[in-house]
Amino acid sequence: MRDLVPLAVAALCSLTTASVLHVSTPASSDTCALQEPLRSCAVTGEVNSCCVETKGGLVVNTQYWQTETGREDAGQKLPADSWTIHGLWPDFCDGTWDQYCDLSRQYDPRPNGDVPPYKGPQIGTFLEKLGKQDLIEYMDKYWVSSYDENWVLWAHEFSKHATCFSTFDVKCYGSQYKMHEDVVDYFETSIAFFQKLPTWQWLADKSIRPCNTTTYTLSDLEAALTERYGARPYIGCSGDDKTVVSEVWYFSNVLGRSQRIESVPVDAKTESNCAKAPGALQYPERNPRSL
Ligand SMILES: *[C@@H]1O[C@H](CO)[C@@H](O)[C@H](O)[C@H]1NC(C)=O
Repeated sequence: MRDLVPLAVAALCSLTTASVLHVSTPASSDTCALQEPLRSCAVTGEVNSCCVETKGGLVVNTQYWQTETGREDAGQKLPADSWTIHGLWPDFCDGTWDQYCDLSRQYDPRPNGDVPPYKGPQIGTFLEKLGKQDLIEYMDKYWVSSYDENWVLWAHEFSKHATCFSTFDVKCYGSQYKMHEDVVDYFETSIAFFQKLPTWQWLADKSIRPCNTTTYTLSDLEAALTERYGARPYIGCSGDDKTVVSEVWYFSNVLGRSQRIESVPVDAKTESNCAKAPGALQYPERNPRSL
């Protein structure tokens, strides 16, 4: 029996050796915490694509302002005093982008272009299986789709955009990868970015509040958000005359993996599409039924 003790020690040592070797594998994110986080869009030379965004380093947090969901009867409502999440996108550093980068992780039932529609269990069931009920509740409140079920938007954002981040690649999760943990990781990372960007409050602090009886000026909205964010975001408008405020996109570089939520704000690459005349914009109040 005593002979077993040195054997056990030997087994432990070889395990340790194996994990040291594994840690040095460049294609996993295991060693990222041990490295100086590199800034996306400023990387040169050979780097670990799991530790810094090497594909789409211009990370964009996008948010919606909408007045109703069209699914109020089904209980799909909007949060009070908050914009909602659209997504987190990995644009190329020049502002162009790629989409649907990994068709083995295509969960979007209504994809753009000629991407084949997904027909399997809806993406929310992945979260349920991983015990993420609280995450689903949060997303049902703050990641809300219009005229479609919320999970369709979640699946769309993951499949179209998350698959184009180098750091959410399945290989970055190493041998311990749990099915769909990259999906959870993308949603939680998007939420963490969103929570640092309280658009509703930043505007309200400058007395720019949703109101159906007044109008606003684009440069005032841009100034309010630029001051708080530290760079100029893109403000998007809808309607034929582009007079209804409906989106904001915050651009950043990230330090290390996007999952670290450490970002450096950068100016939007494009001008707003909104009407620019003084007092041209509506920032509409929500339909009371939608709250
Ligand atoms: C404000 O206007 C929008 C349409 O622009 C409408 O959907 C909403 O119900 C209105 N809200 C209130 C409180 O009247």
